[in-house]
Amino acid sequence: CGIIGCVGRDDTLGTLVHGLSKLEYRGYDSAGVALGGETLGVLKRAGELGALRDALEGGPDLSGSVGIGHTRWSTHGPPTDENAHPHLDCAGSVAVVHNGIIENYQKLRDELSDAGHEFESDTDTEVVPHLIEAGLESGADPETAFRAAIDRLEGSFAIACLVAGRESVFVARNDSPLVLGIDGDATYLASDVPAFREFTDRVVYLDDGEFAELSAGGWQVTDADGAPVEKSIETVAWDPEDTGKSGYDHFMLKEIHEQPRALRQCLRGRVDELGGTVSVEELGDLDFDRIHLVAAGTSYHAAVYGAGLLSAEGISAQAHYAHEYASSPPPIEDATVVGVSQSGETADTLAATREARRRGAGTLALTNTVGSTMARECDDAFYIRSGPEIGVAATKTFAGQQTALNLLTQVVADGTPDRDLVSALRDLPGDVQTILDESNAEAVAEAYLDAEAYFFIGRGLNFPVALEGALKMKEISYEHAEGFAAGELKHGPLALVTANTPVFATVVGDGELARKTVGNVKEVEARDAPVVAVTDGRSDADRYADHTLEIPETDPRTAAILANVQLQLASYHTAAKLGRSIDKPRNLAKSVTVE
Ligand code: G6P
Repeated sequence: CGIIGCVGRDDTLGTLVHGLSKLEYRGYDSAGVALGGETLGVLKRAGELGALRDALEGGPDLSGSVGIGHTRWSTHGPPTDENAHPHLDCAGSVAVVHNGIIENYQKLRDELSDAGHEFESDTDTEVVPHLIEAGLESGADPETAFRAAIDRLEGSFAIACLVAGRESVFVARNDSPLVLGIDGDATYLASDVPAFREFTDRVVYLDDGEFAELSAGGWQVTDADGAPVEKSIETVAWDPEDTGKSGYDHFMLKEIHEQPRALRQCLRGRVDELGGTVSVEELGDLDFDRIHLVAAGTSYHAAVYGAGLLSAEGISAQAHYAHEYASSPPPIEDATVVGVSQSGETADTLAATREARRRGAGTLALTNTVGSTMARECDDAFYIRSGPEIGVAATKTFAGQQTALNLLTQVVADGTPDRDLVSALRDLPGDVQTILDESNAEAVAEAYLDAEAYFFIGRGLNFPVALEGALKMKEISYEHAEGFAAGELKHGPLALVTANTPVFATVVGDGELARKTVGNVKEVEARDAPVVAVTDGRSDADRYADHTLEIPETDPRTAAILANVQLQLASYHTAAKLGRSIDKPRNLAKSVTVE
């Protein structure tokens, strides 16, 4: 979910709707706004932000000097108008937006219902305005009532609240991201910086357990006891332009095309081409003899790739699904735990790095988001510098993670960096550009639009690429897609292979792995499956392929980055031709801040 709030803007409503449009990647099944002053005005609608915009056009005249808004990704209750935020108390004088999960909501709801409060939604959030109302009824002032309500909550939350008659936004954070934007007389509040980046680049990150009040007089952060907390104002580097589509049909396509630049940024200052050295100053004093990489989704595939790189250098490294790791971690002993997360806010991954910290392990956040919760909680943060990624399906940040994991591997491996790799990394942005300029992925997509399912295979470092290729395809095309280790195909999945299931096989180089993967290609070809070879042409894979997606010849480690770019394009064009909602696929959210 995404939260926005503002105080002191001339156009409060416009500011909120603009902010919501920048936060839609966090969830988009319903949206709403509340504006305050003496009384509150609220409007909310199920559906994407467009539904709220339409309702606002013919709807009530909402005005006020303070406001809050929300875009939702359902956890409790289906996406309906009633379940959309903001939620109100009985009197309609308290409005609340919330991101996270209130674990004890049923108990609170029963208690409030017994006291005569009537509920309109199925959400956990609705208990909050009613708790505040109960406090106000017992004579508390708005701030005290707000604090008392928050004190009753168990679970994770970022909450913003308006109370009629008080020109303030009350804010509380526990386990869900919130950041303030500071701009002279105006103050903003959001789940993420792009929501207000157009207006200011000065930000204050709230920490767990903190409260804030935003009012015409400015902003004040306090702790749970109400004592003021000194916060530093930071400046964010992102250009507001970076969050627009720049003429591309979709953010995803724009972000695929941004990869050469993103990778250059990731490498800048870290690879000395002349000296052949690699350095990452953020890595600090952590001990990398044994590494556990924890992650979810696309980042998990980067973690599997990273574990492969590290293992090849003789470093003990394993990738784990963060959600599994958090609840049943293997012996951690002297391992350093690396949280791989684009957003740095994924609740599953945070749970894993927190469990690691609790057990005394050193932690590193490998993330794209400066100031994210993971970056702040871990001992060190290694930034991939991909720039903001809006499309829900991760693209440039996966390439950024792969590249950063190569740098990490070189830094922590004994001995001098591998010259072949340094040279391949130097060529990487240009090689990606060559693929973007010359790819025939659109024609390949066109050829298989009627496929029953899409399979992806690869060995070694191309196994996670197969997993990622399939994930991308299923996320945005809604077609069935699976990735397999090429050697595993014959142990079961081969039963699924037919003339109507194209198999995308990544085959790199002319060594043992390539030879074996070509063997697997022959197996599927013999079952009449169409084959798409993603290859540098050094093996005879293309002899057995119906289509070839070429990648420039390079080191096998960077080849796995290039192969993925071809697969991104194949998925993108498939989804585009099928008319899917590419940037906001159904049921998904870019950043999932609940476990
Ligand atoms: C969500 C997104 C995925 C993403 C995953 C992990 O599920 O839909 O695209 O890979 O979260 O996100 P992170 O920010 O931790 O990399």
